[in-house]
Amino acid sequence: MPEPLIEFRNVSYAAGERRILENLNLQVLAGETVVLLGRSGSGKTTALRLVNGMLQAASGSVTVLGKSVPDWEPERLKRSIGYVIQEGGLLPHFTVARNVGLVPELEGWPKERIQARVDELLHLVGLPMEVYGSRMPRQLSGGQRQRVGVARALAADPPVLLFDEPFGALDPVTRAELQREFLRLRMDLGKTSLFVTHDVREALLLGTRIVLLEAGRLLFDGTAANFRASNLPALIAFQEGANDVF
Ligand SMILES: Nc1ncnc2c1ncn2[C@@H]1O[C@H](COP(=O)(O)OP(=O)(O)OP(=O)(O)O)[C@@H](O)[C@H]1O
Ligand SMILES: [Mg+2]
Repeated sequence: MPEPLIEFRNVSYAAGERRILENLNLQVLAGETVVLLGRSGSGKTTALRLVNGMLQAASGSVTVLGKSVPDWEPERLKRSIGYVIQEGGLLPHFTVARNVGLVPELEGWPKERIQARVDELLHLVGLPMEVYGSRMPRQLSGGQRQRVGVARALAADPPVLLFDEPFGALDPVTRAELQREFLRLRMDLGKTSLFVTHDVREALLLGTRIVLLEAGRLLFDGTAANFRASNLPALIAFQEGANDVF
């Protein structure tokens, strides 16, 4: 078995009396896009925060690149992980170019190398440097901000990427466009990701594997094909009253 890049072993997390994750076991192997699917409040964001060290497991262990999260130097861990959140999470007072070059800057890369990398990444996500590099985040559309968020997460070529409903706030057309680009980037770059969504269709489209969470517990872990063959998609669509999902 190859060493997982991310591993949850019997992980529980509670906020006060409230159990948010219960005995979660999960592995993300090199090259996988594991989709963490679940309804609002099922614990998806909590799971991502346990990976990048913003939260610590109450019991069990989370390891990243073979090292337990508490053993990482927190800044080093954060810089080893590209994290894309809803709304892009850009720094509003920095230009697009500076936002994308943030981690390389913190890593002390020489200026020319940062510039070349920012240029390459903005091109990759379809926002040419000449047009968009000097804009402020507020001068972009929501979809463009998400693209910048993806470029920023990729900047220092981290081995692991986390996506928290990155396309959730977008209109359906832009969303479909960014989903296609995500697939293209995945093929071109061969990245490893843990991708959170509550959209079954998005999960089936983007995931190489699907993990279904319900109220902090894992209900399913398997390939998209196995997930589709189970009664779970229909069940979820029924619960959400969205009978047209399939
Ligand atoms: N600091 C906290 N204190 C108390 N409860 C919390 C805290 N953080 C999260 N929760 C609760 O834990 C549960 C899981 O939250 P989480 O943000 O992980 O859900 P989620 O699956 O990401 O939901 P969404 O799809 O709405 O983003 C929710 O019921 C939430 O209210
Ligand atoms: Mg969330």
